[in-house]
Amino acid sequence: MGFKTDAIHAGQEPDPSTGAVTTPIYQTSTYVQEGLGKHKGYEYARTKNPTRLALEQNMAVLERGVAGYAFASGMAAETAITQLLLKQGDHAICSDNVYGGTFRLFDKIVRHYGVEFSYVTTSDSETVRKALRPNTRMVFIEPPTNPVMAITDIRSIAEIAHANDTRVVVDNTFMSPYFQRPLELGADIVVHSTTKYLNGHSDSVGGIAVLKHKEDAEKLAFIQNAAGAILSPFDSWLVLRGIKTLPVRMEAHNANGMAVAKYLSGKKQVQKIYYPGLPDHPGHDLAKKQMSGFGAMIAFDLGTLDKAKAFLGTVKLCSLAESLGGVETLISHPATMTHASVPAEQRARLGITDGLVRISVGIEDVEDLIADLEEAFKKI
Ligand SMILES: Cc1ncc(COP(=O)(O)O)c(C=O)c1O
Repeated sequence: MGFKTDAIHAGQEPDPSTGAVTTPIYQTSTYVQEGLGKHKGYEYARTKNPTRLALEQNMAVLERGVAGYAFASGMAAETAITQLLLKQGDHAICSDNVYGGTFRLFDKIVRHYGVEFSYVTTSDSETVRKALRPNTRMVFIEPPTNPVMAITDIRSIAEIAHANDTRVVVDNTFMSPYFQRPLELGADIVVHSTTKYLNGHSDSVGGIAVLKHKEDAEKLAFIQNAAGAILSPFDSWLVLRGIKTLPVRMEAHNANGMAVAKYLSGKKQVQKIYYPGLPDHPGHDLAKKQMSGFGAMIAFDLGTLDKAKAFLGTVKLCSLAESLGGVETLISHPATMTHASVPAEQRARLGITDGLVRISVGIEDVEDLIADLEEAFKKI
């Protein structure tokens, strides 16, 4: 089926007991068994829940994987992936420009279990090749990177990593499977913060991992049950509902993202702009090859912390908030918000300056968004 059809129907048969068109919220912790060892496939809701299963099956289809597993947050999904791929004595490579929380998980928690991490510029595939060691078991990338939107070549990283028997994990939160499908490009695991575009309405926190290999899927199912960081039935239902409109929302985000990026690139107060849809973005050509849209995440540098503060203090329609991917426009200051856990010197090297502002362009009328930004530019 086409993507839009799958977004609405995959994994969601009419409810077998009532015929309900929408998958119900199965708000139960356990299931009655007919006799010892005789049940309908459901024993206990940490292990399996029909609402969560519908979401997991839906996402497995959309990301072209063999199975998906939904977790209580994007970070919980990433944690489970580290439990799947890494053990004491292993080495992992991570893009030096990922979501701050991902770096924090790897550096402050997983590292203490005896796993060594190298943080490298993954937009240069040769750097990844050089960083590989015989014991490298994971390469973790986030194309486009957060927040400066650098693009990593998924296909080339997968080729290099697979020659070393290393799994490639792609955080696809910014693009969603509507614009980018990493498993088709050679990656082994896709992870999402469903909190963002998949749910799309800023009213749920969740995460999901989709796997390409059956053996990984079996192990992750075990980890999901054994470690237990599952997504609730209500949140699973919200994300399922959100995904039904993912294609139309992503088209609208993309159109508004491009319009706002063009507007920002014409402002003299903007010293630098990061949006892969602009032809002078260093990853533009690669982005055109591996993504079918550019999304709605833009970062721009106003030069100083004072200017960023004045700008962020003036906008009204754009809400000052962490997170992204909702229908409403959110604006943030990476250095003190999403990337505060990244050491200052690393932030400086990555271009996450004190003047950098990140905007997650929503699907409001774009004229209203631009009018709001225009007022803020008058203050700096
Ligand atoms: C790209 C990216 N990956 C992962 C996460 C973590 O997801 P969650 O906040 O749902 O735990 C975030 C959160 O902002 C993110 O932006």
